[in-house]
Amino acid sequence: MSEKHRILSGMRPTGPLHLGHYFGVLDNWAKLQKEHTCFFFIADWHAFTSEYADPGNIKQFSRELLIDWLASGIDSEENVLFIQSCVKEHAELNLLLSMITPLGWLERNPTYKEIKQELISKDLNTFGFLGYPVLQAADILLYRSSMIPVGEDQLPHLELCREIARRFNYFYGDFLPEPQGHLTESSRLPGLDGRKMSKSYNNAIYLGEDMESVRQKIMSMLTDTNRKRLKDPGDPKQCNLYPYLTLIDPEGDYSDIEEGCSNASVGCMNCKKILVEKMEAFLRPIQAKRQELKNDPDKVEDILQKGTDRAREYAAHTLDGVRKKLNLDY
Ligand code: TRP
Repeated sequence: MSEKHRILSGMRPTGPLHLGHYFGVLDNWAKLQKEHTCFFFIADWHAFTSEYADPGNIKQFSRELLIDWLASGIDSEENVLFIQSCVKEHAELNLLLSMITPLGWLERNPTYKEIKQELISKDLNTFGFLGYPVLQAADILLYRSSMIPVGEDQLPHLELCREIARRFNYFYGDFLPEPQGHLTESSRLPGLDGRKMSKSYNNAIYLGEDMESVRQKIMSMLTDTNRKRLKDPGDPKQCNLYPYLTLIDPEGDYSDIEEGCSNASVGCMNCKKILVEKMEAFLRPIQAKRQELKNDPDKVEDILQKGTDRAREYAAHTLDGVRKKLNLDY
């Protein structure tokens, strides 16, 4: 059997989750939860680094994020699920790590430069935003996590975390294990227009989206752009819709469609209708679970409370060790 890891990963609560998240992140978490000890958390302080001027939605997004996770099969018994700001130990470790992190490391961080350019409408010239990776390092090191599943854009943050851990161990003696990154494949599902699925491109289907709206989106979806008319033969490999079918219903038999598309006997409308049906069957149980959880806020609260308690126990233990190393154990 493969080695059992302590895994940690987080998401910022900046809006509802879509199928790109499901087929890029959540299905991977669902696999990992079977074999490892997993800490999955809602990085609300990280959301604050860019949303600080208008943080009104963060609390609600955090609750909804948890509901989306649970509805997608992330197990609240097996895993430790919590909200970052409920475990104040993250803030103390962030403070202590900030003391040893050279400014140059943060200023050189490519993700920092990119996001600053992308979000020009927001003033990100803040201490908190520059320190984003230090807080992330605190998240990771607090649980002495050995493996961190992240997307490619997060690799520079992970490298910084490793460097911070190394510097800590060099100054104060070996204590914080350096985590390994575990690169999650980028989402296997493209957006409705063939670009990356993203809220900002307006090409996403949300896990909680109303079925009529899903239907309309699918019916106006881009397919094989070389196939202009019904009598033109198509190529499922060039089609934007085809991967939706095979991902949403992997057990399905698609030989008729493949053949019909290639010899122009099956039209794109036909495939769209099939996808609408399969999509409904896929989303229905997720949405039913979401609704059930929304109707039971006490249950969601309980899950969070239990997760916070479990997380804090680990975090407090690590922090005791850190304080000892720093001679701050009064
Ligand atoms: N920065 C991550 C993102 O935007 C979220 C995050 C915060 C995270 N802390 C983390 C991910 C620790 C992994 C581990 O996606």
